[in-house]
Amino acid sequence: MNSERDFSDIITGLAKKRGFFWGPSPEIYGGSSGFYDLGPLGKLLKNRLENAIRTSFVRANFWEVECPTVSPEAVWKASGHLDGFIDPVTKCTKCEQIYRADNLIEEQSPGAQIAGKSVEELTEIIKELGIVCASCKSPLGPVDSYNLMMKTRLGLDQDAYLRPETATTTYLLFRRFLTFFRDKLPMSVFQIGKAYRNEISPRQGMLRLREFTQTEGQIFILEEDEQNWPQFEDIKDEELPLLSYPAQEKGKTEPVKMKMSEALKKGHFQKPAYAWCVFLAYSIFRNMGFSEEKMRLRQHLETERAHYAQDAWDIEVYTESFGWVECCGVHDRGNYDLTRHQEFSKEKMHVKVNQKPGVPNVLEIAFGVERPLFCLIDNAFQPESEERDTDWLRFPPAVAPIQVAVFPLMGKPELQEPAHLIFDEIVDAGFISQYDVGGSIGKRYRRQDEVGTPFCVTIDYTTIEDGTVTVRDRNSMEQIRISKDELIVVLRKLVKGTIQFESLVVR
Ligand code: GLY
Repeated sequence: MNSERDFSDIITGLAKKRGFFWGPSPEIYGGSSGFYDLGPLGKLLKNRLENAIRTSFVRANFWEVECPTVSPEAVWKASGHLDGFIDPVTKCTKCEQIYRADNLIEEQSPGAQIAGKSVEELTEIIKELGIVCASCKSPLGPVDSYNLMMKTRLGLDQDAYLRPETATTTYLLFRRFLTFFRDKLPMSVFQIGKAYRNEISPRQGMLRLREFTQTEGQIFILEEDEQNWPQFEDIKDEELPLLSYPAQEKGKTEPVKMKMSEALKKGHFQKPAYAWCVFLAYSIFRNMGFSEEKMRLRQHLETERAHYAQDAWDIEVYTESFGWVECCGVHDRGNYDLTRHQEFSKEKMHVKVNQKPGVPNVLEIAFGVERPLFCLIDNAFQPESEERDTDWLRFPPAVAPIQVAVFPLMGKPELQEPAHLIFDEIVDAGFISQYDVGGSIGKRYRRQDEVGTPFCVTIDYTTIEDGTVTVRDRNSMEQIRISKDELIVVLRKLVKGTIQFESLVVR
């Protein structure tokens, strides 16, 4: 197997060559790290993921909203991001290179205890461990706090920030939601939209972006409903791979597969509603095509939690490129956000509970779309082999950027005409499809394998005689011949996974 570094280079190289993503952007001006362009296939893949996310949320009774990406300073003062959304930084006293202090300590002294340390403590640790500038080896200055939000200005004089999360902008609508939901809690809403974080020298390509698309689901919920959450019944027997923080404190790194009911009983989750959110997040990742074996759920240590979180579990995805990658956070935000916005805006952010005003709690599922996108490409990668003379991508059919390719055997009009009709039918049925007439059939199959298209339909002279077409399966490279009249129904089942290609092969 390739080393980690090599593998991420392979994936990034492949993604650039085949039009998934390019960057850092803008490439022709040298590029700024943390910004990437999506090529045609990356955009198709992202659309697929967003569709899977939307469907999952809608099925769970969430409503989608969209808010501005820029908000005035007052919002971020209230949300706590102005004071709390910070990274520790240190500057070289000689060459003035700036570093994230925690990352630099970890790089030069792996295993150092730095989680939750203050800037003063980090300054001390740097001194004690003899950490120096990675580029010129000179001493480093004191550690300082650096706010990750991108600042801008509204008109001439109003300070504002690009949102570092969609969540806060969703909370500002609380009173509007009360009207929409006819004052009935819980209220479940989600956003898919851009967020911005001014990371210090981001590395790891698509995994750490300064501009990215966030997906965040929020449930506004009363404390009593968090304990009394009937939907928990539906998932109580589901087993998830859990790595709790007490287990991590004992040095454990392997998750334990556990029924949700047992996890609740053992105290890994305090609230059935929160446990249900963790399961929903996991099922969204399953719907995006991640296999069970490549996922685990890891609880945050107390020192790792964001300023608003009472409890937090991450979904991590295993990649050959970077090992376990944190892809999604599920947060119990308590009533922190609504209380703060009530205090700062002077608007009521409460409801009546037993005749008294009560500020609801918020449970949140939060993730960027680009990380799962990268991880999916990483997980799909298959090296060339004796059977196949090219690297290929084994995307699950439901999320493959192109689901069906259509080929006339040759460019002759008598084959192109029926091929175009079939292509139109496939597109009308809602598949993302590509029509390709260039080169030999073998070359065309190869091109589709390279971008992970699960099925190719070929129209040949037998099609004209008896109305049948061939369908070729990417994984097995086997083919079946079926009537064009049943093509759409069969493709739908194959893409959805309700039938397996193998079961259609006549032996
Ligand atoms: N809204 C939580 C986050 O941005 O991670």
